[in-house]
Amino acid sequence: MEGQDGYRVRASTAADAPRAAEAFALLQEALKGKVIGLAARSLAELSGKITDGLAVLALSPDGVLAGFILVCPWDQDRWVSTSALVVAPAHRQHGLAGRLKEAAAGLARARFPAARRFGLTTSGAVLKVNARMGWVPVPYAEVCRDPGFWKGCEACPHHETLLRMKGEICFCTAMRDG
Ligand SMILES: CC(C)(COP(=O)(O)OP(=O)(O)OC[C@H]1O[C@@H](n2cnc3c(N)ncnc32)[C@H](O)[C@@H]1OP(=O)(O)O)[C@@H](O)C(=O)NCCC(=O)NCCS
Repeated sequence: MEGQDGYRVRASTAADAPRAAEAFALLQEALKGKVIGLAARSLAELSGKITDGLAVLALSPDGVLAGFILVCPWDQDRWVSTSALVVAPAHRQHGLAGRLKEAAAGLARARFPAARRFGLTTSGAVLKVNARMGWVPVPYAEVCRDPGFWKGCEACPHHETLLRMKGEICFCTAMRDG
């Protein structure tokens, strides 16, 4: 959907496959900032998500990839996370994180209607956006326990803390859709 500022936020299609390298570069750049709660993904994973229509892309008025987020099913589609949200520094503070998160929640609902939606974050922006969508903070025990999801935490500088706390608590807030 196009906003008044000319940014378009929409689900990816197979035709967006060439954008995987752009998305990977954005994610790598953000990970250099040691962002707590940002899940690492390989180029192949990003490429697969984009091709499968499980990414939401934000495109600037001149067609540059301004940001993205992934929709990831876990635990035999019982849970779905909206993960790896990145907005390029030049495009921040335009409300794109909010638009991407809402579009990803809608996509998750459409593709995995029976799944509970959830995410982990320390980001003030994401906490705010999630709360606006009606998501609530919950203990880690009350979100998906699929090890595949928690593998995304391995790139976090506080992964040792998560391990020490036996996966029950760490710096991120877990939120789910009620
Ligand atoms: C976090 C991030 C995605 C925010 O993107 P953004 O497009 O600038 O965010 P938005 O403009 O949609 O902001 C949403 C709300 O959060 C607020 N906000 C933005 N950055 C914020 C920050 N650093 N701290 C607190 N609030 C913030 C905005 O003011 C806005 O609130 P408002 O609607 O009441 O004005 C972006 O900074 C980013 O990519 N950071 C690096 C990667 C990252 O941290 N990803 C999240 C991992 S969970």
